[in-house]
Amino acid sequence: LIVAIDGYAACGKSTLAKALAKALDYRYIDSGAMYRAVTYFLLKNSIPLDDEPAVESVLKDIHIEFERIDGNNHTILNGEDIEEAIRSQRINQHVSLTAAIPSVRKKLVEQQQRIGQRNNLVMDGRDIGTVVFPHADVKIFMNADLDVRTRRRYLELTGLGFDISMDEVKRNLIERDRIDTTREDSPLIKAPDAVEIDTSGLSPEEQLNTAIKIINRIRE
Ligand code: C5P
Repeated sequence: LIVAIDGYAACGKSTLAKALAKALDYRYIDSGAMYRAVTYFLLKNSIPLDDEPAVESVLKDIHIEFERIDGNNHTILNGEDIEEAIRSQRINQHVSLTAAIPSVRKKLVEQQQRIGQRNNLVMDGRDIGTVVFPHADVKIFMNADLDVRTRRRYLELTGLGFDISMDEVKRNLIERDRIDTTREDSPLIKAPDAVEIDTSGLSPEEQLNTAIKIINRIRE
């Protein structure tokens, strides 16, 4: 079974996806972490994000894996654990530009589809139910008020030790959503057969219960 979860930035996708994967004993893949990892590589190697041929020429040097460490998923880039580094504001500010590059998307979508061939899976992102797994058994589209999303992401980032203001977080969410919904290749849209959850007033437990109900309904 494949569960595809898409939605806007910081509306709780990965929290729900992780909880669902745990409850179902499925594998969880954070596809956003893959776009973040590519962004990390490109910035580190000073590859301009608007130079598509330059980006394309280094894609073969990028190897992304996931490892379970102390019960948590860690993103590994060419053997280096970059799980913390890819959550930084610098990555937040560039990742949507990276994700708009078709050759980057092609490489990552192929890897995501390969993972989906051999696992029961929960994957979250922006194009999982539309492009990566258009035939996913369960599709969920998440949304929440911008102010709720801003507050949640602000608490998450400051909790990780990042020095950032609420206003910077809000502007970044708006900007990422703008780029993600308007890019030409695989823009963020709700799949026609996705079930929508507005998480604004829901606790993580309520979100999990809602999703489990949706899955049980579909399984029947
Ligand atoms: O999910 P997360 O916020 O970590 O994703 C970071 C960025 O990666 C998104 O803003 C989007 O630009 C890109 N992304 C994407 N397609 C996906 C997952 C993430 O374009 N499937």
